[in-house]
Amino acid sequence: MKRILTGDRTTGKLHLGHYVGSLKNRVALQEQYETFILLADIQALTTHFENPKLINSSIYDVAIDNLSVGLNPEKVTFIQQSLIPSIAELTVFYSMLTTVNSLRHNPTIKTEMKQYGFKDVTYGFLGYPVSQAADITFCSAQLVPVGDDQLPHLEQARKIVRRFNALYMDETSAIVEPEALLSEVPRLIGLDGNSKMGKSLGNAIYLSDDAEVVRDKVRKAVTDTNRISIADKGNPDNCVVSVYHKIFNSDQYDNICEMCKNAQIGCATCKNELTISINQLLSPIREKRCYFESNKALVKEIILEGSNRANLIGNETIARVKNAMHLSL
Ligand code: TRP
Ligand code: SF4
Repeated sequence: MKRILTGDRTTGKLHLGHYVGSLKNRVALQEQYETFILLADIQALTTHFENPKLINSSIYDVAIDNLSVGLNPEKVTFIQQSLIPSIAELTVFYSMLTTVNSLRHNPTIKTEMKQYGFKDVTYGFLGYPVSQAADITFCSAQLVPVGDDQLPHLEQARKIVRRFNALYMDETSAIVEPEALLSEVPRLIGLDGNSKMGKSLGNAIYLSDDAEVVRDKVRKAVTDTNRISIADKGNPDNCVVSVYHKIFNSDQYDNICEMCKNAQIGCATCKNELTISINQLLSPIREKRCYFESNKALVKEIILEGSNRANLIGNETIARVKNAMHLSL
């Protein structure tokens, strides 16, 4: 079985955008690949260093989000990034081969700097793609399931690995050059019509939201603004709710669009249908969440055990690397 590694920054709970964009896919991938899930708490520090308590509780939240959507702890290795010294060590070695300019020109770094409103940037933030290269390679992951926003990081990682191998490693000891595993998944827009569902945008439905909260949030979702009364014909192409129907209630999507265009369904009813579909999806997830929430010790054990397993692999990688770099006496 090939090994895959992917991860989430531990800066808060995960939402439906994460579910549609990556978690759902992970659940399928775990059957085909040896799956490593990284709880990226160090990467979380690059933007949230002033809020370490949030990062700590998010380690649990993100692990539970992953577990409750159906990642199987018997099969999947959960890793807490800060427990893996080999990631930190590789980050330092890789940093020698990475120019500041190449990081400054990384499109995702640029976008995020704007998003966070950074005028200047910390060394840690600018360098997080280097640390991400270490995340992927410490355990020789061959494939990285990612969305397109992470592609620049993967390209940077591949470049670092090629340079590193050419400089220090021979064919038998080479660091594995990872490849992207791109999946065709929709990007979920926010309830407010913003192109992205995001924590900081306040337009998200969380996997941990209860049924009433979902109902409330859907009720406030932006609809076709030209449709003022129920007698007006609507345009589903200008409506967030229809986009969600397509994803969460796909069987009824065509039907709902037709009814909307012919003023045969009111927005309140339409939203109600959507609420039912989303709650149907979330209901089994909530049940599992409840189980893990009341068994935090178990969650901790899953993370610690996974991290131990990962360290056996990472320590071996570092021994090999130090030897090749002539750092062992
Ligand atoms: N940067 C990723 C994100 O924001 C999270 C992440 C950290 C990651 N380390 C990783 C993803 C390694 C893939 C592989 O979603
Ligand atoms: Fe949107 Fe549904 Fe209202 Fe049409 S009926 S505008 S799809 S909420």
